[in-house]
Amino acid sequence: MNRSTPDWARLRKDFPILDQKVHGKPLVYLDNAATAQKPRAVIDALVHYYERDNANVHRGIHELSNRATAAYEAARVRAAKFIGAKTAEEIVFTRGTTEGINLVANAWGVKNLKAGDVILLTEMEHHSNLVPWQLVAQRTGAKIAYVPVTGDEGLLDLSKVDSLLTKQVKVFSMVHISNSLGTVNPVADLCARARKLGIVTVVDGAQSAGHCPVDVQAIGCDFFVFSGHKICGPTGIGVLWGRQELLDAMPPYQGGGEMILSVGYQKTEFKNAPHRFEAGTPDISGPIGLHAAMDYLDAIGRENIWKHDQDLANYAYDKLAGLKNVRLFGPKKERAGLVSFLLKDVHAHDVVTLADQAGVALRGGHHCTQPLMHKLGVESTARASFYFYNDQAEVDRFIEVIKEIQKFFGQ
Ligand SMILES: Cc1ncc(COP(=O)(O)O)c(C=O)c1O
Repeated sequence: MNRSTPDWARLRKDFPILDQKVHGKPLVYLDNAATAQKPRAVIDALVHYYERDNANVHRGIHELSNRATAAYEAARVRAAKFIGAKTAEEIVFTRGTTEGINLVANAWGVKNLKAGDVILLTEMEHHSNLVPWQLVAQRTGAKIAYVPVTGDEGLLDLSKVDSLLTKQVKVFSMVHISNSLGTVNPVADLCARARKLGIVTVVDGAQSAGHCPVDVQAIGCDFFVFSGHKICGPTGIGVLWGRQELLDAMPPYQGGGEMILSVGYQKTEFKNAPHRFEAGTPDISGPIGLHAAMDYLDAIGRENIWKHDQDLANYAYDKLAGLKNVRLFGPKKERAGLVSFLLKDVHAHDVVTLADQAGVALRGGHHCTQPLMHKLGVESTARASFYFYNDQAEVDRFIEVIKEIQKFFGQ
């Protein structure tokens, strides 16, 4: 494959699931922000593991256990490379973005936060970057403050950031790319401003890690989290990256087997990171499938994927903007690969249900960003989210279906 111009049509053939009809119509899968489909390479890696290598890791001295352990740890090395981490020891395997943030909030937050401290978030956070902090705030007495969102165009009001970064702020946790708006936040700049003041930074990379090049050193954050299933990997696996010195100073999140050096009836000595945070038998096939997904994406080039997804989203946005009675959310320019919208007097769930009948898979709802929806004065939006296996013909089909829905509602 020519690395500068991937053969998108050929890549699409790697995804068996896309070749099917839904309700008698060719499937147009535009719900990639919820979860991405899996290429044959990932499915094969999982099958190979279960057919040939399945054993528990870090325990046996037999051949299968050695193979499983080697594959599990090779995935850790691969994940470090995928996001520019200095060492594999900085990579903790989790169930996903949600568990990664819960781990930081509980292990780092409970140890370091106290009454009077402030946790800074943004108004566009996914519930998984809100609720864990609310729970920790309740336990520690810390307060939560928010960087405001400007309105329908969905940008952070950056003019407010410096005044929000007070001495009381101990942690600033922010989403890289908004799943509801498609906004790409200037995380490197935000982390630099926080870092100058000694504030710990967390970046939610659920929507960025598989869509654009990511380098945690260049971002300059302290923690970065993402989910395997959104980057063509399996469900149930995710990555938490943290700076080594922070991870090593954090208490364990869960206790159990494999995270210990020695255990007595009264007291336990723990391993260093990352093993300290991986209690019990981990998801072993998950990292192996994720490894295959990371190889697959980087063979295409995430810079290519980024451009492709942005082009599709801009095309869709312009087409929707050209229709009457459509309210669009998120930035007009430099948006990530998704569009969020509402049709006048039509509930987002009706849009999604009717689109589904036409074979087009969209998402409708609050997208786990309920406070943001309320801020924008809506309960929900409809969302089309793209990935590299989508093409312009599918966007045209999506727009055609939207027009049919408008007609159905007499618009
Ligand atoms: C921005 C963002 N953060 C966090 C999450 C949570 O990811 P997961 O459910 O894989 O833990 C999502 C999932 O949609 C997301 O879009």
